[in-house]
Amino acid sequence: MTQTHTTHDALEDPRNADILIYVNGDLVHRDDAKVSVYDSGFLLGDGMWEGLRLYDGVWSFFDDHMDRFFDSCKAVSLDVGMDRAGIFAALEATRKANDMHTDVHCRLMLTRGVKVKPFQHPSLSRSGPTLVIICEHSKPVDRLHGTGIRLATVPQVRGLPMSQDAKYNSHSKLNCVIACLQAEQAGADEGLMLDPHGFVNTTNACNFFIVRKGAVWTSTGDYCMNGVTRQKVIDLCRAEGIPIFEKNFSLYEAVSADEAFLTGTFGAQTPVAEIDGKAIGTGDRPVTARIQAAYKALIARHIAAQKA
Ligand SMILES: Cc1ncc(COP(=O)(O)O)c(C=O)c1O
Repeated sequence: MTQTHTTHDALEDPRNADILIYVNGDLVHRDDAKVSVYDSGFLLGDGMWEGLRLYDGVWSFFDDHMDRFFDSCKAVSLDVGMDRAGIFAALEATRKANDMHTDVHCRLMLTRGVKVKPFQHPSLSRSGPTLVIICEHSKPVDRLHGTGIRLATVPQVRGLPMSQDAKYNSHSKLNCVIACLQAEQAGADEGLMLDPHGFVNTTNACNFFIVRKGAVWTSTGDYCMNGVTRQKVIDLCRAEGIPIFEKNFSLYEAVSADEAFLTGTFGAQTPVAEIDGKAIGTGDRPVTARIQAAYKALIARHIAAQKA
C-alpha cells in the first residue's frame, strides 16, 4: 500500500515529548494539559483557532493572523477576553517557557469556554473563554517538495457562506475531515474540494493554485479559507510580475495544468503531483519554484523588519 502523506508532515523531534502548553494562563506539561469535558470546544466545536509559525524568533505575519482571528471571533460573538497584545504576550510566554527560537508551529485555540450544562446555547458558557496554545518544534519534511502531494477530487463540497462560512477557522472542521476521509478512501493524501457550482475551490487543509502557460490561477476566494499564505502568494505574484487570476475554473483546467501547488502556513507552498491519479504537468515546476523562493525572501524581509 502506498504511504499516505499529509501536508503537515514534520520531522520527528524528541523535544516535543516534554513541551509546556499554555492553558488559560498556566504553562503545564503536555501530559497534564487538560480542558473540561464541558468545554464549548469539546462539546460543540464552538471556537476559533490560528496556525502560526515562528521563524528566527519572529511570529510570522502575526498581524494578518490576528486580523482573521479577531474578525472571526467578533462575527460569532466570541469575546477573546484580551487584545492582540495580550495574545502576543501569551504566545511569547509559551515560546520562552519552552526555550523555542525557530521552526516552531503553534496552534492557538480559543473556545467559548466551559458550559454549565452540556447543551448548545451559547448563554450556557458563563465562565469566560478557554485559551490554549500548543507550540511544537516543527520542521516540514522536504520529501513532499520533491515528490508532491496526491489529491483526489471528493464529493464533499465547500458550502455557501450562509451555512458555515469557510472563512471561519473554527474548531469544527468536520466538513474538511469528511473531505480528507474521502480522499484517503480514494488512495490520495488530501481532498480537492469543489464549490457549490462545481468549480475547483480548495483542499481540505490548504488553499489551491494552478499554473497554466506561466499564469497562476486560484479560486475567487468565495468559498475557501482566506489563507494568509494564499494572500501572500497573490501579492508576491503581483510584485514579481507573474500573471495571477482569482477566477472560477473547473477540473478540466486543473487536471491539465502545467503545475499545481497548495498553500498554508505550515508547508508554505507544497507541489501537487497528481489529481485523481493523473500526473500534473511534466514534474518540472519553474513557476512554483519561483514563488517558493520569493516567499522565502519575503519571510526573511519580514523577520528583518520585525527585528529592526
Ligand atoms: C481549510 C484551510 N484552508 C487553508 C488554510 C491555510 O491558511 P493559512 O495560509 O492562513 O495557514 C487553512 C489553515 O488553517 C485551513 O484550515
